[in-house]
Amino acid sequence: MSATILDGKKLAESCREQFRDQVTEFNKQTGITPHLVVILIGDVAASAVYVRNKQKACEQVGMKSTLLKLPADTSETELLSKISALNLDSDVHGILVQLPLPKHISEQKVLDIIHPLKDVDAFHPENVGLLVQGRPRFLPCTPAGCVELLKAGKIETEGAHAVILGRSEIVGKPMAMLMIQKGKAANATVTICHSRTKNLGEITRQADILIAAIGIPRFVTVDMVQRGVVVIDVGINKLDSGKLVGDVDFDGVSDIASAITPVPGGVGPMTVTMLLGNTLQAAQLQLLK
Ligand code: GUN
Repeated sequence: MSATILDGKKLAESCREQFRDQVTEFNKQTGITPHLVVILIGDVAASAVYVRNKQKACEQVGMKSTLLKLPADTSETELLSKISALNLDSDVHGILVQLPLPKHISEQKVLDIIHPLKDVDAFHPENVGLLVQGRPRFLPCTPAGCVELLKAGKIETEGAHAVILGRSEIVGKPMAMLMIQKGKAANATVTICHSRTKNLGEITRQADILIAAIGIPRFVTVDMVQRGVVVIDVGINKLDSGKLVGDVDFDGVSDIASAITPVPGGVGPMTVTMLLGNTLQAAQLQLLK
């Protein structure tokens, strides 16, 4: 293996230390403890793990978190009214509804009703719009975590060809928006590929930076990348054996990549860490309201 490992676990720890200091300082100045409410509906096993990680991370930096666990048959109306109440509650600074939702609930309606200043996922159309216009309020957590990993690895993004695999609202699209922004750790030339892209390998082999977010275990193989590529693997896939793997065949690709994120221990811990930053920012913004 020739690649440098972009260690998300280690980076997350140092970011969290900084957030911890900032939370302490904010609390000293205002008497306010940033408070995140996480809503979990139903019993998707992976979601329960993610939510637990988010709560643990809040504790770690001295923030308050509350879990609102609702049964899978919760009606859409009931959920929307719970969110409306949290929007009005001045003790709540961030609201996160864990996705995916049960089929009978409209994701769009749910995300649209979260107050934009409490939208720590940055999924509300107002926050998406601000990001697209190059004046972001909250940064979407997973893409922001990827950018921090690139920064920490001192990866040059300016003028680089960044190829993104996946066009999701959570990762693919906002990642592209971050990387084409003007400024530091941005200014890349971006190509977004997806399930209907033709000649995928031809495109991915042109990538200086490859971001994989398609949710297919070990989809990116060594023949799909060029020597020296920087690989950010957003995938977290559980194999039948119970082993967690990314969207990239790590063993093969790390032989010719210059840098690569592992799974687990790459993007995952950074996603949760960026959420902490957004929750602190939400508490700060609500003071100014
Ligand atoms: N499910 C998978 N990733 C995410 C995320 O970043 N935020 C929320 N709310 N749900 C998710």
